[in-house]
Amino acid sequence: MDQFRIQGGRRLNGRVTVEGAKNAALPLMAASLLTTGRMRLTNVGPLADIRNLGTLLERLGVAVHFDDDTITLNTSDESCTHAPYEVVKTMRASICVLGPMLARRRRAVVSMPGGCAFGTRPIDLHLKGLAKLGARIELDGGNVIASCDRLKGATIFLGGPNGSTVLGTANVMSAATLAEGRTVIEAAACEPEIVDLANMLNRMGARIRGAGTPRIVIDGVEALGGCEHRVMPDRIVAGTYAIAAAMTNGDIVLDDFPYDSLLAAVDHLAEVGVHVQKVDPNADESRCSVRVSCNRVLRPSIITTQPHPGFPTDLQAQFMALLALADGNSIVTEKIYTERFLHVAELSRMGAQIYRQGSTAVISGVRQLRGAPVMASDLRASACLVLAGLAAEGETVVSRVYHLDRGYSSMERVLKALGASIERVRESKAEPAEDAVPAILPSIRGAGLTARAAQGAVTSTPDA
Ligand code: EPZ
Repeated sequence: MDQFRIQGGRRLNGRVTVEGAKNAALPLMAASLLTTGRMRLTNVGPLADIRNLGTLLERLGVAVHFDDDTITLNTSDESCTHAPYEVVKTMRASICVLGPMLARRRRAVVSMPGGCAFGTRPIDLHLKGLAKLGARIELDGGNVIASCDRLKGATIFLGGPNGSTVLGTANVMSAATLAEGRTVIEAAACEPEIVDLANMLNRMGARIRGAGTPRIVIDGVEALGGCEHRVMPDRIVAGTYAIAAAMTNGDIVLDDFPYDSLLAAVDHLAEVGVHVQKVDPNADESRCSVRVSCNRVLRPSIITTQPHPGFPTDLQAQFMALLALADGNSIVTEKIYTERFLHVAELSRMGAQIYRQGSTAVISGVRQLRGAPVMASDLRASACLVLAGLAAEGETVVSRVYHLDRGYSSMERVLKALGASIERVRESKAEPAEDAVPAILPSIRGAGLTARAAQGAVTSTPDA
């Protein structure tokens, strides 16, 4: 397993481009199950989760071809309808194949994804929505077994105890595109990734209105065709690098920054004293260039994670690392995943002063974090520890960085390009793992698969 070895204290300077969004690309890829037309997705990061979903789709009869940042998907065999446990267990987001596969193939057997490092991760709302569309659903042997005649449009309330469900909305919205009649999803997720998916589905011939609002209306059609689509920039990766700059008192430019998808985070960053300024005030806010700089002294803040457009839970850990250096006491309350605090113990090992009580943590800022060996536990907690290492005095070694490879393309290269002292090493031999290109997943064909894209082919853990 790889580690990151970081010498802290370097100010980040320079310019990087934000990669395509993992959490948009996954349901976009799953939509290939809705058609036998050819789909071409561009601006796709070479991430472990993307490759793992590619493997699953190939098992489901979709020809998947990776070529640098482009994926071509073409369903050629619709006979298989079983997404097996050995693939789904590596990434719980595989559940996003359920709705599209059921709608088109009238049958879907998908292993239940189980939990992850920070919670149970239920799918009851996914199943409720599909059942409302007429699916017959059984749970047996750890599998969801769903079957239907042609789905029928319905009015569905999809709200849960912690708000809406992102992948649940993706599943139901995708399935409803081929249902007979009109579907109304009330309490739909408003995340930008849902808007990106709706835009692509409409390009394939679907009739979806209201994506990005709590009420989405879908008028079913007989069939969908192929399309080309550029994946939206990754707002969580963008927010992560903006926080990295702030933690090192740096000054960077981020290109392809999805400003209008990050207004809550930008607002809180401004409150702390971090300035995210558009380079061109008139640029398209869905993907523009921004300069990130900050005050010498950071101010505390009060953060509560919410469904979009609230503060994103996926930036909570990274923001906590920033608040660990603020001049005063901050409060972070996690409303989406109340156990999403695995990073607290590790940050404390680096000298952060954090007191957690249930789903709330109080952070008393310190002047300096101290480098230490720390352990990554899930995708965003790992990012948090890397950011803390960039700011800490001395050396930090972050173990189990395979978590990071699931959601950040070569994070060490991006940070090194910005001036950080960071290298990827093999845990056992502590030798540079630079350009180590492990055997890629055997089933992914793709003449153009570059070393960069193959890097980090690791088993994922299911936390996203
Ligand atoms: C998506 O997960 C993201 N993953 C997560 O990002 C993100 O944290 C989450 O949305 C919330 O924004 C992907 O898009 C691949 P949810 P998802 O269903 O859709 C409860 C990352 O780090 N719930 O919106 O699985 C659930 O327990 C990952 O990139 C139900 O109660 O999350 C949670 O409290 C981590 N029943 C809340 O809703 C259900 O059927 C939001 O979950 C489904 C969810």
